[in-house]
Amino acid sequence: MTNPAPALPAGFGSRPLLESDHLPVLAAVGEWWGTPQAPELGLLLPRLFFQHFTVLSEVVEVTDDAGSPRLAAFLIAFQSATHPDRVYIHFVGVDPQWRGRGIAAGLYERLFSAARALGCTRVDAITSPANRGSQAFHAALGFTAHGDQQIEGVAAYADYDGPGHARVALTRTLD
Ligand SMILES: CC(C)(COP(=O)(O)OP(=O)(O)OC[C@H]1O[C@@H](n2cnc3c(N)ncnc32)[C@H](O)[C@@H]1OP(=O)(O)O)[C@@H](O)C(=O)NCCC(=O)NCCS
Repeated sequence: MTNPAPALPAGFGSRPLLESDHLPVLAAVGEWWGTPQAPELGLLLPRLFFQHFTVLSEVVEVTDDAGSPRLAAFLIAFQSATHPDRVYIHFVGVDPQWRGRGIAAGLYERLFSAARALGCTRVDAITSPANRGSQAFHAALGFTAHGDQQIEGVAAYADYDGPGHARVALTRTLD
């Protein structure tokens, strides 16, 4: 079944990701996640994603009190080069002050529509066993979690992203 993308709250708008979003997104990740984890997370967002993976990627902006757009959320996703019938979600983040308003759900539903238009039938993503919020979000968006053993109380794959970096694999069929 096709769900329409939830409307963004008043004052918010979405647009395609641009190369010029690279440094603002890195700054936002530092701000939104706090300093201890931010440098590690920033390494997941090299400029190449903002150069070569923009077709299905989006940002959400909110107009601030001065009338200027401010980054509120971003999604980096792409059609798999290996499996063209799949879309891979690399990173999603919403400013903590704007969470719980359907902004990420809207980003995902717009992505699903664009992916269907490309003929894709499956969406993949991963998250860490400790990230229960991400797991709950993806379950709410229709993803199934996969793993071959219990790690930190959830099904996950050990050493998926390197020694000590277990991941929960997430998949969703597009019908
Ligand atoms: C996960 C994240 C993207 C969700 O963004 P959001 O805009 O707050 O999510 P939405 O408001 O669109 O929520 C959509 C659904 O997911 C559920 N959900 C979202 N975050 C949740 C949480 N932390 N715990 C439980 N459920 C959650 C909502 O209840 C909602 O379900 P519903 O439709 O049944 O009401 C956001 O919390 C975030 O940026 N987290 C940090 C980054 C991260 O973990 N990214 C994912 C791994 S890279």
